[in-house]
Amino acid sequence: MPKTALKHLAIIMDGNGRWAKKRGLSRTKGHEAGAEAIRDITTYCAAHTEIETATFYAFSTENWKRPKLEVEFLMKLLERYLKNELATYQEHGVRFKAIGCLDQFSKALQKCIAKTEELTKDNTNLTQILALNYGSRSEITSAVNKLMAEGKTSVSEEEISQALQTPYTDIDLLIRTSGEQRLSNFLLWQISYAEFAFTPTLWPDFSAEELDTIIHDFTQRSRRFGGL
Ligand code: FPP
Repeated sequence: MPKTALKHLAIIMDGNGRWAKKRGLSRTKGHEAGAEAIRDITTYCAAHTEIETATFYAFSTENWKRPKLEVEFLMKLLERYLKNELATYQEHGVRFKAIGCLDQFSKALQKCIAKTEELTKDNTNLTQILALNYGSRSEITSAVNKLMAEGKTSVSEEEISQALQTPYTDIDLLIRTSGEQRLSNFLLWQISYAEFAFTPTLWPDFSAEELDTIIHDFTQRSRRFGGL
């Protein structure tokens, strides 16, 4: 059986809160541990010759509904994460990109995101995309509005793909942790032919070893893209 290509991996990181609760810790500790897990998985992906892009769902458009203190903590954690991560990005050749409606974030956070994108733009081992204030329906709607503003009255799939914030490649493999089996408005267009892997592991416990096992299983699958 031919080896299945894995260029774009997407991950819905879920279970930080439950991880913390199990240990009698505050939810914020779960998010901190979750941020650490992103580093390990990113480093693994950068070393994996086939993976070009890894997209992580870090904050959805729905996450604003969480208690104000938790949202504020996540914003601070994100800024701290990006500042701390720069050394890792440079050491492992990782290019950082953000997708989502970034203009709802503080000016300081927006600046930090733009600076990290700029400083890592020449790295080629991996593109790490963080989806921040991201919602797929909103992304698709913006893409269609953009094309209409250009005067188009009819659009092709290719044009929509290119107008999205994530025109890089289709997703090959989507992983969701914590036992939940739903997409939560993540990359709905890009996921059309993705393989899915759901694991009960809570995100902070998700390791490079488990990812390696999931990838091994993925390479055994036969992807026919609708053909025979
Ligand atoms: C879900 O856990 C996780 C998120 C809200 C998104 C992922 C966030 C992180 C990994 C931490 C911060 C990220 C960065 C980039 C610094 P949950 O709180 O929904 O867990 P639960 O379902 O167990 O309550």
